[in-house]
Amino acid sequence: MAPLLSADPADRIIVALDGMSLERAMALSRQVKGLRWVKVGLELFVQAGPEVVTQLCDQGLRVFLDLKFHDIPATMAGACRRASALGAELITVHACAGSVALQAAQDAVSEGAESAGRRKPTLLAVTVLTSWEEWRMQRELALTQCMDERVSSLAQLAEAAGIGGCVCSPLEVASLRAEHVEPFALVTPGIRPAGSVSADQARVMGPAEAMAAGSSQLVIGRPITKAADPNAAFAHCCQELAA
Ligand code: C5P
Repeated sequence: MAPLLSADPADRIIVALDGMSLERAMALSRQVKGLRWVKVGLELFVQAGPEVVTQLCDQGLRVFLDLKFHDIPATMAGACRRASALGAELITVHACAGSVALQAAQDAVSEGAESAGRRKPTLLAVTVLTSWEEWRMQRELALTQCMDERVSSLAQLAEAAGIGGCVCSPLEVASLRAEHVEPFALVTPGIRPAGSVSADQARVMGPAEAMAAGSSQLVIGRPITKAADPNAAFAHCCQELAA
């Protein structure tokens, strides 16, 4: 099940707190007025530890914990149980962990959140990392599917296992939305508001365009965190969505 969201554009924007210390992450999330959702990735989590999640939750923020779990069912379940007890509300797992591990992870988030009196998180499946090229994936992993088939079949596996949504690039969102109706969540990075630079993102879309294509929430990092005025940059993204 997707997280409960209001119609307010601020509920649709998740700010990625990449490349910063715990102190900077906390300061930035206090600075941005109206901010509701933040994403903690591997780098910040490894540097700051689980405390970063609890501190952000204590500050009233909703946390997307993007650690992309992929392991045997018992280990996936244990990690997901701990992450939901910390207060994370969106948690990534790799779809290719398989149906048994995905179901174990899904059961574990319910237990973890309930035991800690937290909201039940939504698990998001990663299908194929966008760093893979089709020919390399086929050759190195001995796969015969083309990229679109691979993404589509992994998303179907995830939904059949009860996973609440997928992370996908703006270019995949329309085709995945055609196959997976709401409330299946489609959370989309690679977003660039008008006037911002693409940096290393090659396949980008504007916020309103990505929502119109079927995204349920957008991940936006550097256009907000590296802006001269992050507060104004976030407000600008919200305005683009409201328009
Ligand atoms: O700074 P930027 O807006 O490019 O940040 C996007 C965030 O989404 C980063 O945390 C990045 O790791 C993540 N991401 C991505 N592309 C994917 C999956 C995740 O940019 N395909």
